Amino acid sequence: MQTPFHLNGKTVLVTGASSGIGRKAAIDCSTFGARMVLTGRNVERLNETLSQLSGEGHLVLPCDLLDEKAITAFAKEIPALDGVVHCAGLVKPFPIAFLNAAKLNEIIHTNFYAPALLTAALFKAKKISDGASLVFLSSISGQFPGKGNVMYASSKAALEAFAKTVAAEYVGRNIRSNCISPAMVKTPMYDYSSEGLFEEAMNEHVSKYPLGVGYPEDVANAIIFFLSPASRWITGVNLYMDGGFLLSN
Ligand SMILES: NC(=O)c1ccc[n+]([C@@H]2O[C@H](COP(=O)([O-])OP(=O)(O)OC[C@H]3O[C@@H](n4cnc5c(N)ncnc54)[C@H](OP(=O)(O)O)[C@@H]3O)[C@@H](O)[C@H]2O)c1
Repeated sequence: MQTPFHLNGKTVLVTGASSGIGRKAAIDCSTFGARMVLTGRNVERLNETLSQLSGEGHLVLPCDLLDEKAITAFAKEIPALDGVVHCAGLVKPFPIAFLNAAKLNEIIHTNFYAPALLTAALFKAKKISDGASLVFLSSISGQFPGKGNVMYASSKAALEAFAKTVAAEYVGRNIRSNCISPAMVKTPMYDYSSEGLFEEAMNEHVSKYPLGVGYPEDVANAIIFFLSPASRWITGVNLYMDGGFLLSN
């Protein structure tokens, strides 16, 4: 039986492939048949991801996505792509009254400028093939911000607008662009986010997820769907994945 739920013959770039959701997405995409291009800054952890991939022909191309010149060089070096998964991201909770430009820049650069500039550079270098699928990792906080996370929430809201604009500009080439917005997923970022919370407050937060908190494989499954022919009619959407959290919060 032929199934549209596959990535056979596709070359897919994953940013943030050295950790968490990006790592799991890269591993699982390779299981579904994709040739992977992995990027991040930490070469050792990227190679750990590489060692867990199925199939052959995968590449590791490290890049600091805060460096615009490095992004341009990266886009020239990379092979033509059928999929891009923008997972690289940073969270730094901070109360509004203590904001300053340096703090804001770090988050906005990582979560918004980096995926936006990388997307622009890949299009400019003609590395996004017709029919490709772009997936941007946002967060439920992009539309449902919580106290203390203004920089992260704002950067993700901007990213969502960007992803939708890409969908509108490139639909004529059958290029699709969608967001995935998870609530809490157990990754190193989750551990960092919970550092400031006392155990009791964390347990209370987690109790608000009727289906429990998420795991990287939950998000990887949605990423595979968005990259595969099974989602060929879907563009410009934002998929919330929250274990039921938003039903009653
Ligand atoms: N975990 C959650 O609860 C959650 C919830 C909602 C949304 N998200 C979103 O999902 C995405 C993945 O999150 P995660 O939990 O998997 O995070 P993570 O485990 O902390 O991984 C973050 C990744 O981003 C990369 N990165 C950060 N700054 C970079 C830079 N300047 N240049 C290149 N790469 C950079 C890191 O690479 P290096 O370490 O190699 O630099 C790392 O691979 C993020 O966009 C996040 O906002 C996560």
